[in-house]
Parts: sequence; C-alpha cells; structure tokens
Amino acid sequence: MRAMLRETSLSADDLIYPIFVDEEIETPVPIKSMPGISRIPEAMIPDTMAEVRAAGVSAVLLFGVSHHKDATGSDTMREDGLVARMVRSAKMAAPEMLIIADTCFCEFTDHGHCGVLVDGHVHNDQTLENLAVQAVIAARAGVDIVAPSGMMDGAVAAIRRALDEAGFTDVAIMSYSTKFASEFYGPFREAAGSSLQGDRKTHQIQSGNLREGLRESRADEAEGADMLMVKPGMPYLDVLYAIRQETLLPLGVYQISGEYAMIKFASQAGALDEKAVMMESLLGFKRAGADWIITYFALDAARLLKS
Ligand code: PBG
Ligand code: ZN
Repeated sequence: MRAMLRETSLSADDLIYPIFVDEEIETPVPIKSMPGISRIPEAMIPDTMAEVRAAGVSAVLLFGVSHHKDATGSDTMREDGLVARMVRSAKMAAPEMLIIADTCFCEFTDHGHCGVLVDGHVHNDQTLENLAVQAVIAARAGVDIVAPSGMMDGAVAAIRRALDEAGFTDVAIMSYSTKFASEFYGPFREAAGSSLQGDRKTHQIQSGNLREGLRESRADEAEGADMLMVKPGMPYLDVLYAIRQETLLPLGVYQISGEYAMIKFASQAGALDEKAVMMESLLGFKRAGADWIITYFALDAARLLKS
C-alpha cells in the first residue's frame, strides 16, 4: 500500500553528475574532503562519460581545474582553452548525453573571484562581457546547456543575447539563479583548486534572505533563463519550495560539496547509513519541488535505483 500511496519519486533522469577535469594530471587525483570523488585528467573524459552512462545518468556538469590562471580567466575565452576542450571531448565521446558547462571565471582567475576585479571588487558589467564570450566558446565546442554560476546581475540576458547573435538559439541557460553565500562550499574550493582570498558576499545572497532569493530567481526568469536553481540544497529547502510556488520554469537544486561531505564522513564514522540518507536527501529535494538535482551522489543513486 505504501507504493500505491507514494507521492514523490526519484529517477535517474533527475540526476546531474558534476565532473572536475584537471588539465595537468595523468591519473585521477582523489579529493580528500569529498570521499569517492576525484579530479580526472582530460584524457579520461571519454571513459568517464561511458561510466556515467553505464550508471544510468545522462547529464554531466563540467568544471575545469586550470593551471593557466590570470586576472580575467582568459583561458575560458579561448577556442583551445580548457572549457572548450572539455566540452568538445565530452560531446564527442557521448553525443546523446547532456553536456552542461559551469560558466564562470573563479576556477580560471589567479585571485579566485568570479569575474574581473576593479579596485579589489568584482566588476559586474565588465564580467558580463567576458561571460558572453565564454558562453559562445562553450556553444561552439558543442555544449547543450550553459550554467552561469557567478551571480552577476544581468548575466542571463547578456549570455542569451550573445548566444542568439552567434546562432546558438538552441543552447539553453540553466541559471544558478538563487545562490547563497555558503560555508558549505568549502570542499569545492579544494576540488576546483580555487585560489580565492576573501569571500563572495557582495554578490551571493546572504543565508537568511528568502525574499531576496525569490527576487533573484524572478530577475533571471525575466532575462530569459530556461531553468532556475537553488544552491545549496538541504539548508535552503524552504527557498526551493517558495520558488516552485511561483514559477512555471523547470527548477532544480544543487546538493553541494559540503552536503555531500557531511553525509560521507558521518557514514564513514558509522553514525549514518550512507545509502539510506543519500536517498532520503534526494527525495527531499523532489518533495520540495526540484525537477532535477545536481549531486555528487548521482552515480551511486542511479545504480541503487537500478538494482
Ligand atoms: C563557482 C562555483 C562554486 C560551486 C559551483 N560553482 C563555489 C562558489 O561559488 O564559491 C560550488 C559547488 C559545490 O560546493 O559543490 N562559481
Ligand atoms: Zn565562480
């Protein structure tokens, strides 16, 4: 009877798997703060795509770990830069899979901020110009979806205009529309080799602000976002629920590095049943209104769903 009365379900189709590609390694390097997740070398992208597909997941989110950092993150704007190479390699290996590119600069700037700095602050509008270039570079390389993650005002509109002008009207924009300044990003900074000094509190939302979260998602919807997102996930389920009540757009959530690490380390210590807690956390996102979930558990969850 429980099966008949089930209100919410989780499917492998809901899951997106993040992948960290390091341009200077030859073998995978485990990320200590995220047990089970490694940075992979570029040459392993095709094998990794095959592994993801075999698990039953059909969407990946690509992050670059750059060793060519500079003040603007110019590597992301080059035809032969890491963003373009990752996308090309993933799309070539798995044309039927959904390739999503995290579209930001923080992994490619020597100061670790998400854009161009002027007087020590991220300059919103100069960053928009570069974001537009990066998005077109990713599109030319074959990306299906660009995912601007920097919380710059006007990013969705700037990217949409640039993609359309370059003829990429079919490339979708998954906006990290409602992204909070969070300490739960900690492990990601190790994963992505971020050199950030300071914080992102001038442009990411402060954690107590629900109304601001709604306003940010409305703004991105008005600018032409195809999908909205709440990030992090577990501490912000109320925000997810509230946005679900007011938008008709597809809406997703990012279960971030710190949420993954909590479940992993607590399970390793014997305090939690990892698989059960993983599934409960993912189902919670669906119940709160997420259509899809970006999670480092994607492969484990999909395998479990299959078995
Ligand atoms: C950077 C970016 C971050 C994450 C995804 N893209 C970190 C940040 O904003 O500081 C976090 C992902 C995670 O913690 O799993 N724009
Ligand atoms: Zn960033």
